[in-house]
Amino acid sequence: MIHSQPGILAPVPRLARYLTFVLEPGADPSGPLRVLADEIDVEGCVLGVGRSLALALGRKVPGLHEFPPRSAAGIEVPSTPAALWIWLRGDDRGELLHRSRAVEATLAPAFRATGVIDAFQYGASLDLTGYEDGTENPKDQAAVEAAVAAGIGSGYDGSSYVAVQQWQHDLARFEAMPRAERDAMMGRRLEDNEEIDDAPPSAHVKRTAQESFDPAAFVVRRSMPWAEGARAGLVFVAFGRSLDAFEALMARMTGAEDGITDALFRFTRPLTGAYFWCPPIANGRLDLRALGL
Ligand code: HEM
Repeated sequence: MIHSQPGILAPVPRLARYLTFVLEPGADPSGPLRVLADEIDVEGCVLGVGRSLALALGRKVPGLHEFPPRSAAGIEVPSTPAALWIWLRGDDRGELLHRSRAVEATLAPAFRATGVIDAFQYGASLDLTGYEDGTENPKDQAAVEAAVAAGIGSGYDGSSYVAVQQWQHDLARFEAMPRAERDAMMGRRLEDNEEIDDAPPSAHVKRTAQESFDPAAFVVRRSMPWAEGARAGLVFVAFGRSLDAFEALMARMTGAEDGITDALFRFTRPLTGAYFWCPPIANGRLDLRALGL
């Protein structure tokens, strides 16, 4: 039986740790990856492979390309590719730390961790602005159709593509805006999470209304807040059966179609941006056949 990695469709955990790795120069990643695939608890994490890692294994994953950098007036959307991404899911920070140390030790001969982000759930899946995040996520079979590739061949069916961006909020700037302005920026009312029909076209949920795209741009968002000292924001994570839906959404957020940029950029900005391919699960373990492993 072919399945997707369970953490993709499961609800967002209470706590998480995101690890990003690059390859050490000249290193052969196949040994450490094989060991990791044997050791890893697929219920407790989601793993994504970057294009550079697939190439280092002599493979090209169809549809996996680099995250395109974008810019608009006063806005930068950077591209910060990496070889490997691991989203450790849990509910105990100490246990997450120990699991991440074990993963790093397994990968150490060939991979170097370049990013570690501790993330958490705020209330009932709120962004740190207080607005509920994930309301319009497709559910059940619609989530499977949006996030899981099918009919593209063995080793690929059951896989997903993921876009990951660490956003940093300027919460002081956000809080300085009157409530009505904040609601208009989001396109939803904080009070009851209702959509504001006559919100301006720059409102985030107007920009990203999934059904308004042709074809519809459904993604399964699994974002989580992060905080470190006084810095804080959202780790935006969107799974798709390809990267097309995310690209269409981001193009519209940055005004590619009509020059109108997403109001979110008034108080938050992406620090990173990368794409990964999340291999399927076969017989309870990561199926790395497409990578020749
Ligand atoms: C700091 C960054 C972001 C924040 C704080 C944020 C927050 C939100 C909130 C509060 C909602 C409304 C509730 C919901 O349906 O989830 C929403 C909706 C949505 N967001 Fe974001 N978002 C961010 C970035 C992004 C990015 C980068 C994308 C894609 C490129 C995106 C795509 C969407 C989509 C598709 C929806 C649902 C729209 C609909 O069909 O109604 N968001 N977001």
